[in-house]
Amino acid sequence: MATAGPDAHAVRSALLSAGPDAAPPVLAEADLADVLCADGWIIVTLGGTAAADATAGGAPRPRIVGPAEQDAVVRDVAVHVCRRLRTAFPNASLEVRAGSRSYRGGAGFGERKHVLAVLGGKGGVGKSTVAVNLALTLAAMGHAVGLIDGDLNSPDVPHMLGASPTQRPRRTRTFPVSAAAPSAWRRPLQRYGVEVVSVGFEVPERFPPVISSRMLVASLLRGFIFQTAWSADVLLIDAPPGTGEELQVMAGELPLSGAIFVTTPQDLAQMDAERTLTLLRERNVPVLGMVQNMATLTCPHCSAAIDMYRLSPRLLQAGVSVLGRIPFDVQLSVTADEGRPLVLGDPRGPIAREFAQIGSAVRRWLAERDRAGAYEPA
Ligand SMILES: Nc1ncnc2c1ncn2[C@@H]1O[C@H](COP(=O)(O)OP(=O)(O)OP(=O)(O)O)[C@@H](O)[C@H]1O
Ligand SMILES: [Mg+2]
Repeated sequence: MATAGPDAHAVRSALLSAGPDAAPPVLAEADLADVLCADGWIIVTLGGTAAADATAGGAPRPRIVGPAEQDAVVRDVAVHVCRRLRTAFPNASLEVRAGSRSYRGGAGFGERKHVLAVLGGKGGVGKSTVAVNLALTLAAMGHAVGLIDGDLNSPDVPHMLGASPTQRPRRTRTFPVSAAAPSAWRRPLQRYGVEVVSVGFEVPERFPPVISSRMLVASLLRGFIFQTAWSADVLLIDAPPGTGEELQVMAGELPLSGAIFVTTPQDLAQMDAERTLTLLRERNVPVLGMVQNMATLTCPHCSAAIDMYRLSPRLLQAGVSVLGRIPFDVQLSVTADEGRPLVLGDPRGPIAREFAQIGSAVRRWLAERDRAGAYEPA
C-alpha cells in the first residue's frame, strides 16, 4: 500500500523553523515562494527579497533576489535547503528551484546523475553521430543513458535512431515554467535501450521547429532535464553548432557535469571549437576531452590510414586531450541515414571498438567525479 508522502505544510515548517540541534531556520518566509509535494517528490521554489538576518548552517545566510542572483549564492542556499529536507524527509526525492536554476541534492540533475554535452563549434563535424553512438556504447556498458537532442532547430537524433514522426502531432507540448508534478512530466522515448527526448518527435521532418527566443530555448532545455521522467543516470546532450542561444543556455543554465568536444582536424573547425571552449571555461564547465572525427580514411587497398586534413594543434595546445579517433567511414553515415547506428550494426568492428575506448574514458571520468564528491559542496 502506498504511504502518504510529506505534505507542503510539513516541508514549510522544516525549512522555516529551527532544525535539529537548534540549527537556525534555513529560509525566511519571504524566501520560500512555493512548495509542491507529489509522487514522492518535494519541489521547493525559492524567491523573495527578504533581508538576510538569519543564518544557514552557521554561515551568514545570503539574500535571494531573483533569477539574476549569483549562481554560487543561490546554489549555497539550495544546498542548505536540500540538506535540511534530506534529514527531515529521507525518502523523498528533492528539487530546489531558484530563478532559472534547479538543484536536486548536491548536483543539478541529482547526486551521481550526470549531464554531459557533446559539442564542437563547427557544423557537420559529427557531433550528433558521436552523441548517438556514444549513448548506445555507454548503455551497452551498463549505464542507464538518456539522450537529449539539444539541437532545437535541426533535431537530427530521431532520424539517426529511426524514430522520426511522419505526421504532425495534434499539439506541440510546451514546458511549464513553474514546477509541475512528476506525474505530468514528459516520458522519454525508449530506443535501442536508450531514453531519448527531442523536439523532432513533435515536428515531422521537412517542417521547421522555429524555436528562436532565449526564453523558449531555456525552457525547453530545462524541461528536457528537469521535467522528464528519466530512469537514466547519465544524460548526453547533442549540441547544435556555434555558440548561440542553445550553447549559452547549456553552459550557463544547465547542470553540466562536463563537455565532450567533437572536431574534425582542420584549423577552421578547431578555431570554432576554441570559441566554444572559451564559453565553457568562462562558465567553469569541465572538458573531458575531444573526439577527433573524420581525421583519417582507411585505404581500401592497403588499409593504411590516409590523413583527410592537416591536423590543427589548437585544441591540444589549449589543453584538451584526445578521447578517441573515429576515421571517416561511409558506414557511419549510411547507418545514420538508415536509423540504426553503426555500433549496433557492427558491434565488433573497429569503429565500435573505438567508441568502447571513448566510453571507457567517459566512465572513468564520471567515476572519478563521483569519488571526489565534486557535486556536494561543503
Ligand atoms: N566518421 C564519419 N565517417 C563518415 N561520415 C561521418 C562520420 N561522422 C559523421 N559523418 C556524417 O557526416 C554528416 C554530419 O554528421 P553529424 O550530423 O553527426 O554532424 P553534426 O556535427 O552533428 O552536424 P550539425 O552541426 O549540423 O549538427 C552526417 O551525414 C554523418 O553521417
Ligand atoms: Mg548535429
